[in-house]
Amino acid sequence: MAFGSSALSFSHQIISSSTKHPTVDTKTAASSVVSLPVIPQTRPDSAALTINNPLSTVNSSVKTVGKKEILENIPGKFGKFGGKYVPETLITCLGKLEAEFNLVLHDSEFQEELATALRDYVGRETPLYFAQRLTNHYKNSQGQGPEIYLKREDLNHGGAHKINNAIAQAMIAKRMGRKSIVAATGAGQHGVATAAACAKLNLDCTILMGATDMEKQASNVVLMKLLGAEVEPVDGTFKDASSEAIRAWVGELETSYYLTGTAVGPHPCPSMVREFQSVIGKETRRQAMEKWGGKPDIVVACIGSGSNALGLFHEFIKDEDVRMIGVEAAGFGLDSGKHAATLARGDVGVYHGAMSYLLQDEEGQILGPHSIGVGLEYPGVGPEVSFLKETGRAEFHTATDKEAVDAYRRLCELEGIFPALEASHALAFLEKLCPTLPHGTKVVVNVSGRGDKDAAIVSQY
Ligand SMILES: Cc1ncc(COP(=O)(O)O)c(C=O)c1O
Repeated sequence: MAFGSSALSFSHQIISSSTKHPTVDTKTAASSVVSLPVIPQTRPDSAALTINNPLSTVNSSVKTVGKKEILENIPGKFGKFGGKYVPETLITCLGKLEAEFNLVLHDSEFQEELATALRDYVGRETPLYFAQRLTNHYKNSQGQGPEIYLKREDLNHGGAHKINNAIAQAMIAKRMGRKSIVAATGAGQHGVATAAACAKLNLDCTILMGATDMEKQASNVVLMKLLGAEVEPVDGTFKDASSEAIRAWVGELETSYYLTGTAVGPHPCPSMVREFQSVIGKETRRQAMEKWGGKPDIVVACIGSGSNALGLFHEFIKDEDVRMIGVEAAGFGLDSGKHAATLARGDVGVYHGAMSYLLQDEEGQILGPHSIGVGLEYPGVGPEVSFLKETGRAEFHTATDKEAVDAYRRLCELEGIFPALEASHALAFLEKLCPTLPHGTKVVVNVSGRGDKDAAIVSQY
């Protein structure tokens, strides 16, 4: 597939360090996080979109909280995070996408088609599995400890949560009359999911992937090709593949669709991905009610850029008694300079079209992230996740490469389940969390994907 070469520069900049940890009221935060953008259910023409788009970030209201000013009740913004920091040429296109997204949210035909695809093609619902032996592993000498449940997103078609979003967005692309899809992938799971969705819906598919990632996740490259996708190597890793995919899309705006795999990018991308992943949390709430007649006490997920975590967390944001824990990649250690712990060590800036936390140097240059979980190697994180950190509604911790590998092996040995190395970061944090919890605490861990793609890496570690 030939793409135009128009260069698109997504600048990033450090915002003053005083914006790093403002305090915001949690209730305000929750209400603004959960509100979905509402726009008229007609397809506005592109001229109207640029002028009257009600989602425009220009129409912001400003509220003072303590000494801080935050923007709120602005669709597409989560506090000060998010937005559309893109060149003018992209605004119309993003406006059309917003319009279609808002249409499908209320379109019963689309919703039925999606529900059928999720059930019969993806294989939902995924089980909420009681991990008996892992639970036993965390019992203290008095036989007391938390109960560990696994949300089995690894059992989805394609082996990860990515298909929940890929199939829905491919359906949107089809409705918009797009003929081809372009996407970037790190671990290859989003690439496999997108290639599968494109095969099913008869769309051309091009996947951009970092050359080193292609070597590390070779089995997924084979799958993508078998599913009919063109896989194009990009110098570098996932962040470079993402930049290339956006550039490729900009060259073909009228016919091509950029299918983002995680909750980053300019509005409406983060909200769209979050919305399509939120099936994870909705199912979890219902399954928890069936299994123990209540809610989870704690939900835990790994943080790459935020889609599997938001998918699980979003349903529970208003339930203040549900603790939400995100686990980032500490790589070789937080002080090694080789990690992907954006929330722990990043500053606020603009990257790939949105404001969020970023790994950057003093001059605002992006720092290369590292994690053994290839899908966690991104220097940014989504705006909604950034907001959950800033408001304190969710807490964030880290796990190193070694801790993740140990967790991978532990789940294999105790439960006969091989988790993706990304998800292994969430499982790794149980080692620190569980000894602190009262007996019977119900902990749900999102097993965001399966780990056969990582088996060689783990066995050679
Ligand atoms: C299995 C799996 N889990 C997690 C992630 C991280 O992405 P996100 O934070 O968007 O869920 C990836 C990314 O490729 C992945 O493949």
